[in-house]
Amino acid sequence: MERTLVILKPDAVQRGLIGQITTRLEQRGLKLAGMKFIQIDHDLAAQHYAVHKGKPFYEGLIKYITSSPVVVQVWEGKRVIETVRRTCGATNPIDADLGTIRADFAVEIGRNLIHASDGAETAAYEIPLYFKEEDLVTWSRVTDQWIME
Ligand code: RTP
Ligand code: MG
Repeated sequence: MERTLVILKPDAVQRGLIGQITTRLEQRGLKLAGMKFIQIDHDLAAQHYAVHKGKPFYEGLIKYITSSPVVVQVWEGKRVIETVRRTCGATNPIDADLGTIRADFAVEIGRNLIHASDGAETAAYEIPLYFKEEDLVTWSRVTDQWIME
């Protein structure tokens, strides 16, 4: 079983897309393990995006992610990391396949609405930045048998 971190970025919150984006993930059949509404401060943003420090877009990225509240979520399931990434679409919405969140709701790379962990190591680093283990819920869902064999 995998877990992945999702952030509904400031543009998703400001544009009133929390529900529609979360619905995309729920409709896919993914299972939520944690969720909260927070303001990311500069220190947390720097930890989260440490891998991008020094890149030309880094300063703008930190400013963007700290500019407004965000929704952070953990989703759990078999191959959930890859499933969520593919549901988000390519980093640049212009390149994202139609039907993905970024293609259907966004037009620019610097306002691409959603973050999702890009691999198991990244997820293991990112999730504890936002959630304690005891904040996450593993639960049984009545529809599980109709979503997974
Ligand atoms: P994320 O981490 O937010 O899920 O996005 P990602 O894996 O698809 O893309 P990543 O390469 O990790 O980049 C992180 C975020 O930085 C912004 N970005 N801007 N202007 C640019 O060239 C540029 N490149 C990346 C995007 O907001 C991207 O989601
Ligand atoms: Mg990334």
